[in-house]
Amino acid sequence: MKNAIVVVGTQWGDEGKGKITNYLSQKADVVVRYQGGDNAGHTIQFLGNTYALHVIPSGVFNLHIKNVLGNGVVLNPKTFLEEVKNLKAKGFACDNLYISDRAHVIFDYHKELDGLNEEALGTSKIGTTKKGIGPCYTDKMSRQGIRVCDFISKDFENIYKTTLKAKNKQIARLHGQTIDVEASYAEYQQIANEIKPYVTDTISLLNNEVKKGKKLLFEGAQGALLDIDFGTYPFVTSSNPSGGGVCIGSGVGPTNIKEIIGVAKAYATRVGSGAFPTEFEDETSKYIRETAHEYGTTTKRPRRIGWFDGVVLKYSANINGLTGLALMLLDVLSGIKKIKVCVAYRLDGKVIDTIPARISDFERCEPVFETLPGWDENISNVKDYDSLPENAKKYIAFIEKLIGVKVVIVSVGPDIKQTIVREKIM
Ligand code: GDP
Ligand code: IMO
Ligand code: MG
Repeated sequence: MKNAIVVVGTQWGDEGKGKITNYLSQKADVVVRYQGGDNAGHTIQFLGNTYALHVIPSGVFNLHIKNVLGNGVVLNPKTFLEEVKNLKAKGFACDNLYISDRAHVIFDYHKELDGLNEEALGTSKIGTTKKGIGPCYTDKMSRQGIRVCDFISKDFENIYKTTLKAKNKQIARLHGQTIDVEASYAEYQQIANEIKPYVTDTISLLNNEVKKGKKLLFEGAQGALLDIDFGTYPFVTSSNPSGGGVCIGSGVGPTNIKEIIGVAKAYATRVGSGAFPTEFEDETSKYIRETAHEYGTTTKRPRRIGWFDGVVLKYSANINGLTGLALMLLDVLSGIKKIKVCVAYRLDGKVIDTIPARISDFERCEPVFETLPGWDENISNVKDYDSLPENAKKYIAFIEKLIGVKVVIVSVGPDIKQTIVREKIM
């Protein structure tokens, strides 16, 4: 029986995946991160507390749930242990965490190289989170990475020292700060000992859960337009956040996937560089940024604000195979008189409704907008769909028709309780 549900970002990240994963995890047995690393920042709010998670899956708060970091994840072990420490201090036992022995490890030299690469790009920089994500995935693909299984093995000393010496040469060529080999090895050896109890063969673990009929929930990081294959290349991350990444990053086969829920903001945001056709800067964008506190969870950078982009969402629905949409932050639009939705782009005099491959073409796309009337009511306490203002329902219906995917969840506030479910998912 197909039992797996996937939660993916449909825009440029920060859509509210953490909230929806945490909400759906109430009925799950296992929550799995399948890509990305601590570039992610997932916010979860319940019982008056707010938590920000970067590497640990958003099901960690439910003690009966297994939380898995799959083979597709890049693991910064320092961030992981720090997050465990913080969660334990808040009363969460954290004995429900499992790290894949095949995941790649992010070391300090990856972070150093990320910063140096960005500096070298100057004004063309990607605007990365500087967490070492790109350099770590680069090492994975060029078969020079250090995996968790090597990290916790008796060979680690030899592997690490040899690798770091080579990386130091690279860092020196870029005029960066080289890393002391002995001191760094000693530090990481201690960290490896602390990581070891969490490490297991997650491929077997997950497939055994599948065979037992357990419910798996996959938590995407980043979003479709940041996907290395489908996103606005080169202004993307270095992994596959979209639906296809689930199987590669976990070892669970595609025939087990039942639903793919796309998480979308009722408007759009982006952090970092790269084209963003519906971006605007005025009193309304400032109002949205301050109302929704649109500042990065990981880097604290102000997020760029744009109107809902139907072209992006249609593309996202295709590449992810979406079966439903979770429309987030609808409450933020209350009080805005006229709400714009991008229905197509104009490029060199032609109207198009796809994302061009070349970034220079995407940069020249001008949005074709339709304007919908807004609503004044505060909707953050609305519990059922029918009680939403008529214009809010019309806005949702417009989006559903444009994208061709049903909005199955409407989110009207950051708290887990501020969630309207139109269709039972788990
Ligand atoms: P993620 O990376 O996709 O998990 O999203 P982030 O946590 O980075 O950003 C989403 C932000 O929106 C967080 O601050 C959430 O607490 C907040 N949020 C999520 N859903 C809603 C909602 O429906 N309304 C409001 N006002 N805030 C929300
Ligand atoms: P969550 O999971 C938003 C962006 C960075 C940059 C680009 C590449 O919270 O949605 P990287 O450090 O990955 O090499 O940076 O991707 N980015 C995110 N933007 N949300 C995220 O994660 C992001 N993770 C990376 O800003 O533009
Ligand atoms: Mg985020």
